[in-house]
Amino acid sequence: MSLNIIVAAGMGNHVIGANGDLPWGRIPKDMKHFRDITMGHPVVMGRKTWESLPEEYKPLPGRENIVITRNASSVKTNKGPVIIFENIDSILEIAKVEDVFVIGGAEIYRLFMPYAENIFLTLVMGEFKGDTYFPSISESGWYKEYMRFNTEKANPYALAFCKFVRKEKQHYIS
Ligand SMILES: NC(=O)c1ccc[n+]([C@@H]2O[C@H](COP(=O)([O-])OP(=O)(O)OC[C@H]3O[C@@H](n4cnc5c(N)ncnc54)[C@H](OP(=O)(O)O)[C@@H]3O)[C@@H](O)[C@H]2O)c1
Repeated sequence: MSLNIIVAAGMGNHVIGANGDLPWGRIPKDMKHFRDITMGHPVVMGRKTWESLPEEYKPLPGRENIVITRNASSVKTNKGPVIIFENIDSILEIAKVEDVFVIGGAEIYRLFMPYAENIFLTLVMGEFKGDTYFPSISESGWYKEYMRFNTEKANPYALAFCKFVRKEKQHYIS
């Protein structure tokens, strides 16, 4: 059982967000990759990322949707069942018995980075401007298990699907 991060970031600057949305809009190949990896598992997101999801994707189907906020009453859940937590403790407990995927945004990635065992990173090849960035992945703490390129013409941008694994297993997960 594990705590995992999944993110798409711009090549070079690791930008992940712009004005509450993705800097590159929708990339079908990456959306499929995200769906394939997270399907059937709880997904954890910050309140702002929950609000950024297009209405037609809320809640993400086939996955328990968990939203983190400091003020549970502020989360609009009229689009379907979501679980709301005001801190990360319960989520770390769930990750002892299930594979959990942290899906953003930047504040929530920073919160879980010390506990994550795997990072599924899609690099989007292009120059993007934005206001939200993924934290740096230190070479001393992580190794790259794979990097697979996707250059299909149907996609607006070339992509590289990477997986990073923490070098030392975290102790909180038995
Ligand atoms: N490229 C990608 O893969 C990707 C993935 C996800 C999101 N994004 C982008 O990232 C941007 C949003 O990211 P963001 O960093 O601004 O927001 P976020 O991480 O989605 O959400 C931040 C919110 O989480 C809650 N929160 C933060 N720390 C907390 C704590 N310690 N305890 C309880 N609640 C806590 C707070 O909610 P309250 O204010 O309600 O208290 C805070 O306002 C958007 O542009 C989105 O499109 C990109």
